[in-house]
Amino acid sequence: MADTLTITDNRTGKTYELPIELGVIRAMDLRQIKTGPDDFGLMTYDPAFQNTAACRSQITFIDGDQGILLYRGYPIEQLAEQSTYLETAYLILFGELPTKSELDAWVRDVTLHTMLHENIKTFMQGFQYDAHPMGIFLSTVGLLATIYPGAKKVLDEENRRLQILRLIAKVPSISAYAYRHSIGRPYIYPDNDLSFTGNFLNMLFKMTELKYRPHPVLERALDILFILHADHEQNCSTSAMRGIGSSQADPYMSLAGAAAALSGPLHGGANEAVLRMLKEIGSVKHVPEFIKRVKGGDGRLMGFGHRVYKSYDPRARIIKRTADQVFEVTGRNPLLDIALELERIALEDDYFVSRKLYPNVDFYSGLIYQAMGFPVEMFPVLFAIPRTSGWLAQWDEMMRDADQKIARPRQIYMGSPRRDYVPREQRS
Ligand code: CMC
Repeated sequence: MADTLTITDNRTGKTYELPIELGVIRAMDLRQIKTGPDDFGLMTYDPAFQNTAACRSQITFIDGDQGILLYRGYPIEQLAEQSTYLETAYLILFGELPTKSELDAWVRDVTLHTMLHENIKTFMQGFQYDAHPMGIFLSTVGLLATIYPGAKKVLDEENRRLQILRLIAKVPSISAYAYRHSIGRPYIYPDNDLSFTGNFLNMLFKMTELKYRPHPVLERALDILFILHADHEQNCSTSAMRGIGSSQADPYMSLAGAAAALSGPLHGGANEAVLRMLKEIGSVKHVPEFIKRVKGGDGRLMGFGHRVYKSYDPRARIIKRTADQVFEVTGRNPLLDIALELERIALEDDYFVSRKLYPNVDFYSGLIYQAMGFPVEMFPVLFAIPRTSGWLAQWDEMMRDADQKIARPRQIYMGSPRRDYVPREQRS
């Protein structure tokens, strides 16, 4: 017998059989439930899409109760241990791990697209010296739409692939320019001898030396962090990417919107917010008082909690291990003790335990970034660089999906019924 859901409408006494496929009913099937011929039909009310699947996807799997994260079926732990960010990006984008020659070609192609149009330097000069790098990042990604007008051909698969390549390659360059602008240093051109993350560190930190040589431990740590941030299925920014892309806007415009969604403190801005929170707490002895405040509803414990994970975020566990390796090179971040104490207390406290609030990916990542020399404002940008591969994979998947249309949720209208315009002089 086929899986169905039987609904009886108590108002009319009618019964409806709704098919259940892949564990869901189709919201549009509810429309047949009407009270009369003029009734529009039943909808669901789901603010913040807490229980609505907006697509079928083959990219990322999350089991939030068990703390499992898979990209294209591969566990995040194995990828973090054995893969590189560019290989993982290939996997996320194209569905399979590349062969040796496919990977070589992919790395070469990305490396050859890292340069930015010289006009971008002039554009950067227009930003205030203290402009937030995330604002610079998303504006500059939007600007690329004007440099590559051909990107508008979003229904052309080959064209999409070219824009994907450009974006993956150019987001580190844009981010590095944004950083250099904020500290008043000259922009550094990419170095094709270096790895993806090695070159990014070069564009950020090179001074007068002829050749920048990244520290291998820091280069690898950043690569691991990039792997961990590459995709996370239908989160806020990815939904923005899909939502904007569903209007057939070009990928630069869509990605600028996704980056805007990422910038908020409840999403990719959380890593920055964690560092500010740790600084504000200031010392381990102030931790109990801070926890008390959070439990009293005054602020949140940033870097804790997740819409999907109701257990330890597997990415946070890997980041904690990576932090130890980084601190061996850079020295221990003094804020680490405060973070460890917050975690210790929160994991024992009934407020956090009963709400299943555990450290998420952002709780420890900022401590690593800070130890590596990044200012806190750069943290959300460091999230956006690798998430670019996830945004683009999700966008490309949407463009191939015959079920998709322009995103357009419904509403329940709660405003005034129809009324007549009142001339200005007659209003009291
Ligand atoms: N500190 C204190 N209380 C919290 C927290 C927190 N970090 N997160 C959730 N709660 C409480 C919340 O007040 C609510 O309590 P009550 O039931 O008494 O009203 C309950 O837990 C459920 O919270 P919610 O807001 O309904 O959960 P949500 O799924 O809508 O929000 C979240 C998820 C990530 C926005 C939220 O946990 C949060 O604000 N965390 C802090 C910000 C953060 O670290 N964000 C990064 C997320 S991971 C990286 C990414 O993918 O962006």
